[in-house]
Amino acid sequence: MKAVAVFPRTHEVKLIEHEAPRLTEPDQVRVRMLEMGICGTDKEICAFEYGTPPAGSDYLVIGHESLGQVMEVGPATSRVKVGDLVVPTVRRPCPHAACHPCRAGYPDFCITGDYTERGIKGAHGFMTEEVVDHERYLHLVPPALRDVAVLTEPLTIAEKARDQIQQFVYRLPWVERATPEEVRRNELTAVVLGAGPVGLLGAMILQVAGFETAVYALPPAPNPGSEIVEAIGGKYYSHGSIPAETKQALFGHIHLIYEATGVSRLAFEVLKLLGPNSIFALTGVPGLKEPIEVDADLLMRNIVLKNQVVFGTVNASAENFEAAIRDIGIFHQRWPDALRALITSRSTPEEAPGLLLGKIGGIKNVITFERATSREQGR
Ligand code: BGC
Repeated sequence: MKAVAVFPRTHEVKLIEHEAPRLTEPDQVRVRMLEMGICGTDKEICAFEYGTPPAGSDYLVIGHESLGQVMEVGPATSRVKVGDLVVPTVRRPCPHAACHPCRAGYPDFCITGDYTERGIKGAHGFMTEEVVDHERYLHLVPPALRDVAVLTEPLTIAEKARDQIQQFVYRLPWVERATPEEVRRNELTAVVLGAGPVGLLGAMILQVAGFETAVYALPPAPNPGSEIVEAIGGKYYSHGSIPAETKQALFGHIHLIYEATGVSRLAFEVLKLLGPNSIFALTGVPGLKEPIEVDADLLMRNIVLKNQVVFGTVNASAENFEAAIRDIGIFHQRWPDALRALITSRSTPEEAPGLLLGKIGGIKNVITFERATSREQGR
């Protein structure tokens, strides 16, 4: 069967023939892959800056954002049935007894670093015709979300961040658990840095949670990202076109900054502007370049004197996947066009190496194994 693979030793990315997987354990499920999203991590793997093939393999089948359909179930499965739509999780636990997070079912918090990630680290991914996985790693998707469910995995990043943020907000003794309406009445504000899929999906979650949300990104408006921000009731600010005072006002009084750019210089610039008792969530993974200068005294002073929380978040738990599927359903009801507009192209597996290696425009570009569509850029 066909698969899109990365060969780190020979620096190649190509469509290959890959052996079709078979069920080898009773709780396994065989899944036909329908759609795979391309993200910054995939591009880094294809630039040979990240990613590791499985032990003993020259290549890594790429792809970790996906949607599939169940083709075959093992005798010890109970939840999924042939024909069901499913989204698999990405990370698999490390084998060490002492890793409490992995043993408790939270490999997203693994402490040994010996986890694997499908399509990223030590395990083949989903950009292929069929995959086999254990039933416990598959999450059921309602058929009505067929067109947009490939956005589940990037949304899980924001779901996990939201869970963490809630804990940090409730550390403030006078804050009580609030409904979205109460959050709105308290005029809680958030700024998202970056208008890529992780940023825009994060903005959607924040809007649903009742935050007044602004998205701060490089491209001048109007552009497809700024249109989505406006369609969901947020405000879009372009980096180049806002004066310094407006920037201070924008960032000075907000309760939360959600970073989704992976640009460390921007993140630390903006961190300087964070207000009292506020939270700064980092989700981007920058490539390792030359060190940069940061205003460390000012940052540390602010973090202490303003009771700030700065935290990083990676990957996601099974609960975060369930929540993401529920929230995709909510977004689909509230903003069907804006949600669909996040997917800016659908391409064939043959076109995948070019997309992974080239400069990709658009927001979320998707590879589909289902039908030979050509790109629908700018849809
Ligand atoms: C993926 C995560 C993964 C992380 C680090 C991200 O692009 O969405 O699942 O844990 O990269 O490898």
